[in-house]
Amino acid sequence: MMITLISDPTHIKQLIKSLRKVACETHPVISGSDVSLYIFYGAEFLFKFIDDIPVSVNMTKIGKRKKNIWEPYANWHGAYTIPDMRRKGIATELYFCSEKRALESGCRRIKSLAGSSAGLALHHSLNHQCWGKTNNNEIWIDSPLPGYESLYDDSMFPSQAPSKSKMTDIDIIETIKQGLRYDKA
Ligand SMILES: CC(C)(COP(=O)(O)OP(=O)(O)OC[C@H]1O[C@@H](n2cnc3c(N)ncnc32)[C@H](O)[C@@H]1OP(=O)(O)O)[C@@H](O)C(=O)NCCC(=O)NCCS
Repeated sequence: MMITLISDPTHIKQLIKSLRKVACETHPVISGSDVSLYIFYGAEFLFKFIDDIPVSVNMTKIGKRKKNIWEPYANWHGAYTIPDMRRKGIATELYFCSEKRALESGCRRIKSLAGSSAGLALHHSLNHQCWGKTNNNEIWIDSPLPGYESLYDDSMFPSQAPSKSKMTDIDIIETIKQGLRYDKA
């Protein structure tokens, strides 16, 4: 059982194709067009393999821009685990590997858009801060990485977030029940 960082775009696309085949589903998170876009953005692709078969992927762009105290950001574009291997901690394991790489590169925060109940539940289990719902029915995640929490006080909010206040646990649990963009597709 191995986690591997794959950098070659052709290899990434082959592995995503294998992931779709093993999963027996075509989820939008691992659609060819979105994956090509994340490659273009410069995202890192961490794959989890079991017996040489890809079972999960984490796609995160590790930013370098440092214009204000919110930056650099790690931008978590997507997570996907094949249905048979879900709820075994694999997406979490890949996340912590990616988070470690982001911290080593100097990132202060992580941001993402949670487009499914499972995705939001994963962020919630990681204690990520949620800042309201976008017009696309996704939840805006923007959270300090470990060690940087004290840079931000309760009066501060991410300037582009849909809401100026953090969602409460109750809001998040209710949103998980209702479903998001991909749950309603
Ligand atoms: C979201 C996804 C990547 C999670 O992958 P995973 O490998 O099953 O995640 P983990 O096992 O690490 O989950 C960690 C925790 O997240 C929460 N969680 C994950 N999926 C959940 C679900 N379907 N319902 C409720 N909680 C969930 C739980 O707290 C879980 O811990 P627990 O199993 O001990 O209760 C997977 O469900 C998936 O690929 N879904 C389809 C694609 C997708 O929706 N991606 C996210 C888009 S924003």
